[in-house]
Amino acid sequence: MKVKKTMLLYGAAGYTGKIIAARAKELSLDFEIAGREPIKIKELAEELNVPYHVFTVDDGDAWVNALKDKQVLLNAAGPFRFTAKQAMDACLKAGVHYIDISAELETYQLAESLDEEAKTAGIQLISGAGLFVSYDALVVHLSKSVEEPKQLKMGFRHYGGFSKGSVLSSKNIADLGVLVRKDGLITKSENPLPKVFSFGEEDVECLPTPLGGIILSYKSTGIPNIQEYFSLKLPATELSDLNLEKLPEGPTADERAKGRNAISGEITGKDGKVLKAWIDAPSGYDLTPLSVMAVANRILNNDFKIGYQSPGSAYGEEIIKDIPDTYLIDSKISE
Ligand SMILES: NC(=O)c1ccc[n+]([C@@H]2O[C@H](COP(=O)([O-])OP(=O)(O)OC[C@H]3O[C@@H](n4cnc5c(N)ncnc54)[C@H](OP(=O)(O)O)[C@@H]3O)[C@@H](O)[C@H]2O)c1
Repeated sequence: MKVKKTMLLYGAAGYTGKIIAARAKELSLDFEIAGREPIKIKELAEELNVPYHVFTVDDGDAWVNALKDKQVLLNAAGPFRFTAKQAMDACLKAGVHYIDISAELETYQLAESLDEEAKTAGIQLISGAGLFVSYDALVVHLSKSVEEPKQLKMGFRHYGGFSKGSVLSSKNIADLGVLVRKDGLITKSENPLPKVFSFGEEDVECLPTPLGGIILSYKSTGIPNIQEYFSLKLPATELSDLNLEKLPEGPTADERAKGRNAISGEITGKDGKVLKAWIDAPSGYDLTPLSVMAVANRILNNDFKIGYQSPGSAYGEEIIKDIPDTYLIDSKISE
């Protein structure tokens, strides 16, 4: 009898991992969980009634065992600079597709550098399949609305606060400074000024911040000039004022439900025409599980492209239809 292939969720007992696990359960998926901390993983496995594995990210033999008969690994253990390499290597060895929810640019570059290995192993490798799934779908949509897209400006309005893990991981982004894509190359912004974006009825001034589109959306569309903006300061920039121990694990479900995320994009074509569109979506820690499970579900249904991929290069703008309560809205304005 052919063994049914399933998903392994590593880092399942983290704040976001638990919400992803709940979403996987809601979808009635066949999956197993893993993580390094025995008590938390065992308790969660009992709660979800799923098989579990306890191992540290450096344990190669344990990866081989846990990835047996899996079709996809969903890595939710961040900061990803400490886990992505080991998890990607394990997937390459096992021939198992890899996705994670990293927001760290260096893990996107790591996936990019493993393109040939991923092709040889016959796997799809996506780092950044969380918040950037709908973001990248919007970019693909915009890139098709003008002739020869030259310039992209993206604004991200975040709602719902930050988990402890996100505060920690955002240091890896903040330390890079304001990076942009200029004439096809990643470079430090010469003039990082705030910019106002429209999110439907609301205009918000956003701060220049590299969000990952400079790598992921470049992969999806090849737009040579990309600038990104965020509605808040990255939490790590205020880390010295924060006592990490005293921070809550993350926002409660009630807090998350009180507001929404929005992503706004402006694209300029070769004729100078500017088109705008935006996305209205659930708040951050609800959107991430809905998005990453949309991608995992595609893979479990044998919908993947081998090699290094971005959400947009693998699934185009269509994936947005797989993300519940998430809407792409074209602005009527053109200049
Ligand atoms: N872009 C997006 O869409 C998005 C959205 C949400 C979160 N994230 C990212 O996802 C990551 C997790 O966030 P979170 O809110 O779940 O944080 P969290 O509550 O701190 O959970 C982190 C999880 O990762 C595990 N972990 C951390 N370092 C590890 C290591 N070296 N080896 C093995 N396991 C390790 C932790 O295990 P222990 O419990 O044993 O410490 C825990 O299970 C962060 O990097 C965050 O930035 C991204």
